[in-house]
Amino acid sequence: MKAYDNILGLIGNTPLVRINNITKKQKIKAPIYAKMESLNPGYSVKDRIGVSMIDWAEKEGVLKRGGTIIEATSGNTGIGLALTAAVRGYRCIFVLTDKVSVEKVRYLKSMGADVVVVPATAKPGTPDHYHETAARIARETPNSFYPDQYAHPANPAAHYATTGPEVWNDTGGKITHFISGIGTGGTISGTGRYLKEMNPKIRIIGADPYGSIFKTYKESGRVPESTPYLVEGIGQSLPVSNANMSVIDEILNVTDRESFDYARQLSRQEGIFCGGSTGTNFAAALKVAKEAAEESCVVFIVCDTGEHYLSKFHSDEWMKEKLLLEPQRITGGLIAETKNGTSPKELVFVTPDETVGDALERMNANGVTQIPVLEEHRSVGSLRESFILTKLLADREMLNAKVRDVMDKSFPVVEVDTSLAEIKSKLQRSPAVLLEDFKRITAIITRSDVLDIQS
Ligand SMILES: Cc1ncc(COP(=O)(O)O)c(C=O)c1O
Repeated sequence: MKAYDNILGLIGNTPLVRINNITKKQKIKAPIYAKMESLNPGYSVKDRIGVSMIDWAEKEGVLKRGGTIIEATSGNTGIGLALTAAVRGYRCIFVLTDKVSVEKVRYLKSMGADVVVVPATAKPGTPDHYHETAARIARETPNSFYPDQYAHPANPAAHYATTGPEVWNDTGGKITHFISGIGTGGTISGTGRYLKEMNPKIRIIGADPYGSIFKTYKESGRVPESTPYLVEGIGQSLPVSNANMSVIDEILNVTDRESFDYARQLSRQEGIFCGGSTGTNFAAALKVAKEAAEESCVVFIVCDTGEHYLSKFHSDEWMKEKLLLEPQRITGGLIAETKNGTSPKELVFVTPDETVGDALERMNANGVTQIPVLEEHRSVGSLRESFILTKLLADREMLNAKVRDVMDKSFPVVEVDTSLAEIKSKLQRSPAVLLEDFKRITAIITRSDVLDIQS
């Protein structure tokens, strides 16, 4: 019989995977390896600390039978704790900010946890901040354990005992650079300390979003004002005790755009489906590897799975809304689906046998100044308000005329996958273009619809 006693046996011992296509394209010679923490049973690096913090609490007698685990989390630690709690019979309450993806919230709930969501904008130290809220719930809940992953020694200890030795052994001691994000700092501090003990020459490099304080804090000891960024799970607005700056040699800043772009490239070009913080780490790993000697061995952490972010940066609609999408991925279909200006979402049109009066009324009712003329889902002509009004000045009877008899030529018709660049060029000559999907006109794109899109 070959079986694990329970799901917790699958935590850790994650493999290293070499990056090939992206490094080749960028002419990077030093090998880069992904440490696949997304292959843990809760799909993130945080399963390791879920079990280690609960082991600690049980050993210390802090967590007793039927107890409740309460934690402030960006989701993954919650999943790690919920996994262990499910196996050992504890209840969980997690406090998350509203920045966290809906997938993670649903995931936690489906693992039986109660979830409290607070505003991401609440300042540290104020009652609504997620740490403060978790601490208060813990005080008010009898027989509860509040691990506080930001300060709990079992967090970096888990990485010192497991992640560090795995990376060392799997690279045959050849690792030269280790790259990780810094959320609680557990991963980088624990793994980094182990690797430094094995070989003090190994460079431990933090990957930090622009807007987080860690880089300035490491370099000057000063805590700057943090600014918002979109990557989840890493970076902070205040120092945290588990982020041991003395283990870290250097911190590199990475933009949201780079993080998401590289996370998406990892999926498409390497088959590694990951979250945004992995993109942050990988962006930093590429910068490091570009400068590193050919015989180096660069390892970065794949923190979690892309499944947690399907409604976020893995969606073109979300990326476009945040003005982060590469222009070549913006198509007519995407523009039409994500119109957010004043123009109507539904296609407004007239048929050739309606009257000019009907057409004017429809334009007024929908706040549009031009309208396509469609017959059996095909475009046969167009009408513009200014054109009709000029004609009406000369002849009021025109209101009763058939659209067919006065209409202008059709707006240009393009396929839904036509690029933004091509649509823009058509809009130089026409006030609107029509989108065609399987020979049916499905949408209209006007000049104002593309004005708010980055080029
Ligand atoms: C998605 C994600 N990436 C990275 C991290 C950072 O790991 P650590 O807390 O060990 O610094 C976290 C931590 O919350 C996370 O949720």
